[in-house]
Amino acid sequence: MNYLCPSILAADFWELGRQVETVEKAGAPYLHIDIMDGMFVPSISFGMPVLQCVRKRSKLFMDVHMMVAEPERYIEELIRLGADGITIHVEACDRIPETLGRIRELGVKTGLAINPETPVSAVLPYMELVDMVLVMTVHPGFGGQEYIIDCIDKIKEVRRLIDQSYFGVKLEIDGGVTLGNLEMNLAAGANVIVTGSAVFKGDIEANVREFLKRM
Ligand code: DX5
Ligand code: ZN
Repeated sequence: MNYLCPSILAADFWELGRQVETVEKAGAPYLHIDIMDGMFVPSISFGMPVLQCVRKRSKLFMDVHMMVAEPERYIEELIRLGADGITIHVEACDRIPETLGRIRELGVKTGLAINPETPVSAVLPYMELVDMVLVMTVHPGFGGQEYIIDCIDKIKEVRRLIDQSYFGVKLEIDGGVTLGNLEMNLAAGANVIVTGSAVFKGDIEANVREFLKRM
């Protein structure tokens, strides 16, 4: 099973409510919430009030991507506001097992992300604690960047690891995903597909339907 996960970072915030309704009605199962702190990544996006607001009106699975230093500081608050899954970066957290353990203890799905330059071996010690591995296919911090083709080998490597020893763990990719490279990414083994610009630019409903048709 593959899951489309539109990233609201690419939404028009004037129209946020309507645009989330549109992706939901068109059948996307997940919504990707990119939280950036201006420290772990250069940019600042949005945070708790946006999650809270979207959560209240939407039944979509809220997939929170924490591009934040020391993400352990925010776990309880994110869960209180309605996160369904929380992904932290292996590069941003000194207390990974404790943080993933805490997320699970509170009944929420765990994710661990690696940047393009981080090897797959960095997630190995934590595989028992994760429900999802996120392989970044751009340098995190901005939407609308070009897919980094070298990441495809890492996607395949994580897929092999999951199939051999961690059956059921999801494999998410994030950054530069388009209808043009979707098939290649699915074939490599990704099954949670984040996409910002390719869904929110242009006809959102038609974009979501086209992605879903090809998944
Ligand atoms: C990048 C974010 C992504 C971004 C994807 O730092 O984590 O989720 O919104 O946007 P596109 O699909 O436009 O690359
Ligand atoms: Zn993201």
